[in-house]
Amino acid sequence: PTAPAVIVAIDGPSGTGKSSTSKAVAAQLGLSYLDTGAQYRAITWWMVTNGIDTDDPHAVAAAAGKPEIVSGTDPAAPTITVDGTDVAGPIRTQEVTSKVSAVSAVPEVRARITELQRTIAAGAPQGIVVEGRDIGTTVLPDADLKIFLTASAEARAARRSGELKGADVNVTREALIKRDAADSSRKTSPLAKADDAVEVDTTELTLPQVIECVVTLVEEKRAGK
Ligand code: DC
Repeated sequence: PTAPAVIVAIDGPSGTGKSSTSKAVAAQLGLSYLDTGAQYRAITWWMVTNGIDTDDPHAVAAAAGKPEIVSGTDPAAPTITVDGTDVAGPIRTQEVTSKVSAVSAVPEVRARITELQRTIAAGAPQGIVVEGRDIGTTVLPDADLKIFLTASAEARAARRSGELKGADVNVTREALIKRDAADSSRKTSPLAKADDAVEVDTTELTLPQVIECVVTLVEEKRAGK
């Protein structure tokens, strides 16, 4: 018999290993994968490209419905397009990273992206791993398993500057702390741990250890279903 679809929500701040963990867990368990940060980055990229002032919430709200954002959910090769254009590269620039918190704080943007996320999750045949900031609290409050990843600011900055190759770790640390503070303090569905989420502190763990820990939690959930 095939296992019932399982919905896994993985939330936490940047640099906790969320994306690497979520992709690997989905691949190992044959689930779909959705990077919700990429969706917020994609809509931010569209705003920047179309000359929308991202510091003006009214302008951002008015444009929120315009771009068509499509996410490919294969964990081995996730994709993201805006109006048919592949934006996987452009959404990782410093400019988009510095503006994404302001854009994603606008309620009209969140409503639009949240609806997309729920549609994708409901359509995943075997289930899905969805990673973000508000998945367990707001997007998928009925998820079968909720994980909240944390790590010390030092560990997160070190990992991020490793990814950015040669970036100054102190600059990375400051930018990361600033973005987390903005994401945690916004009014509409801030970064937060759901009451029923399992918290995993990854500071002292290797990536394979974190993956194994989450895979085990999913398997235990499935067995108990
Ligand atoms: O995971 P990331 O760094 O790619 O996310 C980019 C930004 O998107 C993050 O700073 C806040 C926003 N975001 C959000 O508001 N809600 C989510 N579920 C995921 C990301």
